[in-house]
Amino acid sequence: MKTIIEPFRIKSVEPIRMTTPEERRHLIREAGYNPFRLRAEHVLIDLLTDSGTGAMSTHQWAGIMEGDESYAGARSFFRFEETVRLIFGHRHVIPTHQGRASERLLCHAVVKPGHVVPGNTHFDTTRANLEASGAEAVDLVIAEGRDIDCLHPFKGNIDLEALETCLTQVGRERVPFVLITVTNNSGGGQPVSMENLRGARAICDRFAVPLLLDAARFAENAYFIKLREPGWEDASPREIARAMFALTDGALMSMKKDAFGNIGGLISLNSDEWAEQIRTALILTEGFPTYGGLAGRDLEALAIGLEEILEEDYLRYRIASTAYVGRHLDAAGVPVLKPFGGHAIYLDGRRFCDHLGNEQLPGWSLSVALYEHTGVRACEIGNVMFGRPDASGAWHWPPLDLVRLAIPRRVYTQSHMDYVIEGIDELHRARRKIGGLRFVHRPTTLPHFTATFAPHDAR
Ligand code: F0G
Repeated sequence: MKTIIEPFRIKSVEPIRMTTPEERRHLIREAGYNPFRLRAEHVLIDLLTDSGTGAMSTHQWAGIMEGDESYAGARSFFRFEETVRLIFGHRHVIPTHQGRASERLLCHAVVKPGHVVPGNTHFDTTRANLEASGAEAVDLVIAEGRDIDCLHPFKGNIDLEALETCLTQVGRERVPFVLITVTNNSGGGQPVSMENLRGARAICDRFAVPLLLDAARFAENAYFIKLREPGWEDASPREIARAMFALTDGALMSMKKDAFGNIGGLISLNSDEWAEQIRTALILTEGFPTYGGLAGRDLEALAIGLEEILEEDYLRYRIASTAYVGRHLDAAGVPVLKPFGGHAIYLDGRRFCDHLGNEQLPGWSLSVALYEHTGVRACEIGNVMFGRPDASGAWHWPPLDLVRLAIPRRVYTQSHMDYVIEGIDELHRARRKIGGLRFVHRPTTLPHFTATFAPHDAR
């Protein structure tokens, strides 16, 4: 059998509301042409993010009832700690309420002004936390990782030569750690190979610098290694994940992705000194170290989610169902980033809307047109998110202007995805009718969340 089916059946359903194109044109205008400002109930299929939007299993919901809500030393913490330790293998397991809380605590404890932190591509909250501590965040993804059409199997790899040069030039005293993100979200959900992690480990050893992973999507990365890296085809996703973490001194994780959590995060570390500093800071903002800003029931659900995410049937379906969307769009001639990522498909806004100039915000305009046409919500990762005017008012645009279709875990069926594919195909055929947009209000930090827009030609 070729067909890869959803490896679950549905026990509880949540209705989604149909709207008409007229209603949607009105709603998005009211929202200042910003999909982040829509009410979620006005969205038919929500592909804004795969973070915290997954469906929990019957086992996780049963675990919720088992949660131990004791302030200190709850049973749920010890279950969580044991599960994490068996996969990650580090000495200290510290729960936090989400990924960026882990980033902030780590930065607060060990990052100082003047530090430099190399990585493949830092996620935007990671970069913001590093910069808030006075450090420079340096992205050293391989050149192939910046080429939208290149079919390299591990486009998330860090450029080892560039890493070595960076460590030589900066010097180990100013590099608190190297941070590799698996999969590389900001680079299109692309995986990092075991060979590349080994190479990074060897360089870090030579300079005596710790190597950490941002492990938000570690299970998807492990499965890509199984599919694409010679020598790993017979290993289980768990064995591969363990081998990945065994090369590191620690990891940060947003458990809203590859732990099937609606909320949750993690710091896993070997260093006693760092763990002590982090726990001290954690008490000030997150809570006691055995709950870290979460309820006992969350810890139960996350421990179960970490086990479920490594099931091979799930990962086979996950990677195949994301690729299904990419393959059909590609076959219809829609410009998409390749190879297809683990958690998302990325449309190339500039090629899709080649009649719009950068100042007309092609990716953003595409995301608005997609909502108007289909009720599907996607997220621009391009001109609006990263474009900056300089002191003279001239705009600097990022290398890529993408629209991310992030697929929540275990939430939508194949017919939902067929609807998305059909809608994007129709929109692509009529793409010349997509109108450009311009800023009406643009906050200077993280503008995409709250900016408002108007049609480019309407003054
Ligand atoms: N690291 C990576 C690689 C991420 O993708 C995210 C979040 C974070 C850290 C921060 O985690 O949201 O739990 O605080 N990514 C989401 C996204 C928001 O839509 O890609 P968080």
